[in-house]
Amino acid sequence: MSWQPFPLFQSHLDLAHDYWKRLLRIGDTVIDATCGNGHDTLALANLCVNDSCGTLYAIDKQSNAIASTRQLLQSHLTPGHLHRIHLIQGCHSRFPDTLTPQSVKLIVYNLGYLPGGNKTITTETATTLASVQHALSLLMPGGCLSITLYPGHAEGEVEQQQLIPLLRQLDATKWNCCHHQWINRRAGSPSLLLVQAPMPMTVR
Ligand SMILES: C[S@@+](CC[C@H](N)C(=O)[O-])C[C@H]1O[C@@H](n2cnc3c(N)ncnc32)[C@H](O)[C@@H]1O
Repeated sequence: MSWQPFPLFQSHLDLAHDYWKRLLRIGDTVIDATCGNGHDTLALANLCVNDSCGTLYAIDKQSNAIASTRQLLQSHLTPGHLHRIHLIQGCHSRFPDTLTPQSVKLIVYNLGYLPGGNKTITTETATTLASVQHALSLLMPGGCLSITLYPGHAEGEVEQQQLIPLLRQLDATKWNCCHHQWINRRAGSPSLLLVQAPMPMTVR
């Protein structure tokens, strides 16, 4: 069979989704910290829950985002799968109290504003930083943070400027931190930060 050219990656989200597929298994505990319209939540649900195992938390501070996510999930998933997904309206600077340190496989942030919603309501640097700091402590060994950044708008630029130094401080002998950026697109294009927590032993 001959190889047909296809777009390997056209957006930062293609890269993010590829990493999620490689990382996640059914049964994992996952958080979507900015569920928005639910597209990422649905992709994550397909990778981590079935009728009997896996837990997915989807958080957003806007009620219309939670409603859109619920509608999207209900139209694509079985009741058994839905039962494993917790939709939470609130700020991601606070995660559910039931989550214990080092128990979560993947925490996803897709920063910025709700597509199709009010563009003045965006993630904000102070709460994003507080959330990411808490998120680091929740990651299990080898677990990941996946953060898509939108430095093309003012608050997104500040978030990027402050998140990168925070993550740069993580011990390079233990944590893997990588920033995927487009180098031939306009300045301010979205980018992807990936952070992998220390492994039980060094695997290279
Ligand atoms: C770019 S959208 C997310 C898109 C979503 N992942 C999807 O697949 O449709 C960013 C979302 O972050 C939410 N948000 C902003 N600040 C937040 C906060 N402090 N806590 C939780 N969600 C927040 C916004 O309401 C918005 O829906």
